[in-house]
Amino acid sequence: MTAPHGAELAQAVTLLRAGELVAFPTETVYGLGADAANPAAIRKIFDAKGRPADHPLIVHLPDASHLDRWAAEVPAQARVLADRFWPGPLTLILRRAPDVPREVTGGQDTIGLRVPSHPVALALLAAFDGGIAAPSANRFGRISATTAAHVRDEFGEAVSLVLDGGSCDVGIESTIVDLSRGTPVVLRPGAIGRPELAEALGTPVAGMKTTTTDVPRVPGALESHYAPSTPMRLLARDLLDAQLADLAATSAVVGVFAHGPCPDIATAMWIEAPDDARAYARRLYAALRELDAVRPVVILVERPPDTPEWAAILDRLQRASHP
Ligand code: TXA
Ligand code: MG
Repeated sequence: MTAPHGAELAQAVTLLRAGELVAFPTETVYGLGADAANPAAIRKIFDAKGRPADHPLIVHLPDASHLDRWAAEVPAQARVLADRFWPGPLTLILRRAPDVPREVTGGQDTIGLRVPSHPVALALLAAFDGGIAAPSANRFGRISATTAAHVRDEFGEAVSLVLDGGSCDVGIESTIVDLSRGTPVVLRPGAIGRPELAEALGTPVAGMKTTTTDVPRVPGALESHYAPSTPMRLLARDLLDAQLADLAATSAVVGVFAHGPCPDIATAMWIEAPDDARAYARRLYAALRELDAVRPVVILVERPPDTPEWAAILDRLQRASHP
């Protein structure tokens, strides 16, 4: 795996301490990081992303022993999930400690916390020895970055240092579980599914759809999010084939992410979708970027099955294809 040298890590820590931004790999997607205790540094994240100031950030921690610095209350369920799934692709929403900068939490009384498992993220966090606030390293509303090159494409010179840790292994953003209001609720599905969370907690875990009121603001919960610039359609395979045939007749370039090999259509830019859900998630955002780059008239994506292992992928595809 690609790994930054010790000197580069030291430079990253120096930049973070000076209130500058550093992009770094996590196992889910790349993050655009800043010192979570420094409000001026946090504001730079919002400026770089073009993100509304009331959208809260996730604070990344070196390990679970840092929880009490950032959370006012760490319920037993949080300890259980942290023990079981950290380091890993799980974010816990807890009541925030009183001195957390309001820039981090978008003015809310809760905070998102996670310990990522990527070795470069862990090395950076250990060397920094504090919380690093980091949203996904993409401009607001766009697809998350899963390689260092994606981050540079998004931000160019605006981000001085991008630590390169290769392609992200999970490929989609962390599962977010809200533990701040009694019963656990998944606010954003991810690689760690509700069944695994329920099994660890010994209690059912609700999803967003079952809670209709009092849902905190989650930009990932906006209907349109994680979108390529090209319009995207999510279609069952027979409908996809039919649309592709129609479009082939117009000789317009069409992007396709679907299972199996490309049929004999010269105007299709076809990327074969992995059949396994984990491999699919790992490939998804890079594939959408590659398709977007050829400026097709539309990107057609074969709809994955409506089963638990595809739930997080389906969630992202639905948002990306929302008009
Ligand atoms: O995998 C990930 O979670 C990546 C990597 C970099 O860690 N980060 C990420 O950050 O996806 P971002 O900012 O793109 O998405 C974070 C989500 C947002 O939807 C935000 O609203 C939600 O977490 N969030 C953060 N704090 C929250 C809070 N206190 N209450 C509710 N939602 C919160
Ligand atoms: Mg994001």
